[in-house]
Amino acid sequence: QSLKIGMLPADGIGREVLPAARAAIIALGSSIPKPEFIDLAAGFELFTKTGTALPDETVSILQNECDCALFGAVSSPSRKVVGYSSPIVALRKKMDLYANIRPVASVAATAGGKPDVDLVVIRENTECLYIKQETLQQGEFGKEARATRLITERASRRIGDMAFKTALSRPRKHVTIIHKSNVLSVTDGLFRETVRAVPALPEVNGRYDQITIAEQLVDSAVYRLFREPHIFDVMVAPNLYGDILSDAAAALVGSLGLVPSINAGDSFVMGEPVHGSAPDIAGQDIANPLAAMRSAALMLRHLGYGEGADRIEKAVDEVIREGNVLTPDLGGKSKTSEVVNEVVKRI
Ligand code: NAI
Ligand code: MG
Repeated sequence: QSLKIGMLPADGIGREVLPAARAAIIALGSSIPKPEFIDLAAGFELFTKTGTALPDETVSILQNECDCALFGAVSSPSRKVVGYSSPIVALRKKMDLYANIRPVASVAATAGGKPDVDLVVIRENTECLYIKQETLQQGEFGKEARATRLITERASRRIGDMAFKTALSRPRKHVTIIHKSNVLSVTDGLFRETVRAVPALPEVNGRYDQITIAEQLVDSAVYRLFREPHIFDVMVAPNLYGDILSDAAAALVGSLGLVPSINAGDSFVMGEPVHGSAPDIAGQDIANPLAAMRSAALMLRHLGYGEGADRIEKAVDEVIREGNVLTPDLGGKSKTSEVVNEVVKRI
């Protein structure tokens, strides 16, 4: 029996950190089913060459042949490019990977990281403003741009359930609902009320009774995240807020290059570092590979290989704690490849 892993490095440092994730998985040896890596095309560079950022073949191989996948990062341009649309946003929707789970925890006070952070951002992954329904019109006083924001009861309920389920597995068992329903009382109001109502659903059957619930407006949540990060355990948020919050939380632990995620659905999981393609450092062999290696661990844990996941995470934590072999984002002088070797040796 083998574990078929679709590999989508995509662009920039995605191509430098995905091999690190692969090396971590291989280092586990026979404690997991034999990994079989299937290289798949996606990304902005692919788009510039072929006119598509996400070939149908990539999606069909993921859906029909892979047990799971790892995604690197994509260089989506900030200007409108006709015919282009982000492959990662499309994949989350197409594969119904409705939960983006982003744990952020401090290991050591590296590069100004705070010592008391241990939280997980549960980001809704399929709707909100990221449905990308935007229009541009000529109005009376110039151009007018509009975007539609979709919040559904179904998506809010299942992300809420994922948040409570996650909280149940953590010592503090605390969920904070992030919203802005003092202003957006219809959309964020629906999100807030639906998540709040999850513990009382008949099918939940009292499973979440021990979990405490708090809520925080998104702007003050960012403030409190920086002032008193220890108050947060599980944070559940609509797509855009969750995206922003998780990058902010990454700053608390020293670097975006440390924070992993999984995109999870009911029948598929895709690991992905939270960071982007980092064009400012791409091609220099200095990208921090630890977020990608931790993403591989999260993916394995989600599939039931908790022991393998633990081994990767322990090795990563040790390398951070020792602090001798780190990339420049953490104040070190080492190359990506040197950090990978340190972790692999410990696995
Ligand atoms: P970014 O996450 O790529 O970089 C932000 C800053 O963090 C940069 O200074 C970068 O050097 C640093 N950084 C990020 N990852 C690092 C790592 N592993 N090691 C060391 N330093 C690291 O965000 P930015 O610059 O806003 O976006 C660049 C491109 O990435 C854009 O085209 C954007 O669309 C794309 N992006 C893609 C994502 C994805 O594929 N899921 C997510 C976020 C951005
Ligand atoms: Mg982001």
